[in-house]
Amino acid sequence: MEEKEVSGDEQLQLQLEPVTAENLKTVRTLVASIFPVSYSDKFYQECLENDLVGVIVKNGEAIAIVAVKPENFESGLVLYIRSFGVHPRHRESGIGSFLMNFVEQKCKSLNLVNAMLHVQTSNKKAIKFYKNRGFIITSTVPKYYQRCEPPDAYIMWKSIL
Ligand SMILES: CC(C)(COP(=O)(O)OP(=O)(O)OC[C@H]1O[C@@H](n2cnc3c(N)ncnc32)[C@H](O)[C@@H]1OP(=O)(O)O)[C@@H](O)C(=O)NCCC(=O)NCCS
Repeated sequence: MEEKEVSGDEQLQLQLEPVTAENLKTVRTLVASIFPVSYSDKFYQECLENDLVGVIVKNGEAIAIVAVKPENFESGLVLYIRSFGVHPRHRESGIGSFLMNFVEQKCKSLNLVNAMLHVQTSNKKAIKFYKNRGFIITSTVPKYYQRCEPPDAYIMWKSIL
């Protein structure tokens, strides 16, 4: 089992940086290691130098990513959370909360009232994390994920403003 890194002062040093040609490889490695779904090359291309995407790189290794995008969804434009994750070794030290601040800031700067995401129905830890930060489950999308078990997703929403 991988050991969790000592990270008492990690929060003080957190800094998001853009995805660049230089860090793209480590970002891809991070994403492949934390999500059960694979992201397309188009996703990574869209991430490059995009101010709606941030990564935390520590000692040359990407350890966290947040990617958001305004999207039209049912009742109107929302801030959709496309990717949100922290490397297992760095969890439970406040990095996820730091990424959530980024989401809220982007919502405000884009004048969007709601943030929204899909989460696998079995992902209890992430669901609890989001609920503790004001997100609520509004619906279930059966068979949302391909090649994942379970394939179903919850849609979670938060009103930011
Ligand atoms: C969900 C996820 C992003 C949370 O990231 P994280 O860095 O662990 O988040 P935080 O450290 O801010 O918070 C996690 C918990 O640790 C606690 N915590 C934070 N700092 C802590 C510390 N110094 N000591 C002990 N606990 C701490 C928080 O209170 C929080 O508990 P809560 O969820 O009950 O409120 C992470 O588990 C993850 O990457 N999961 C896999 C990817 C994923 O599922 N993403 C979502 C897809 S939709």
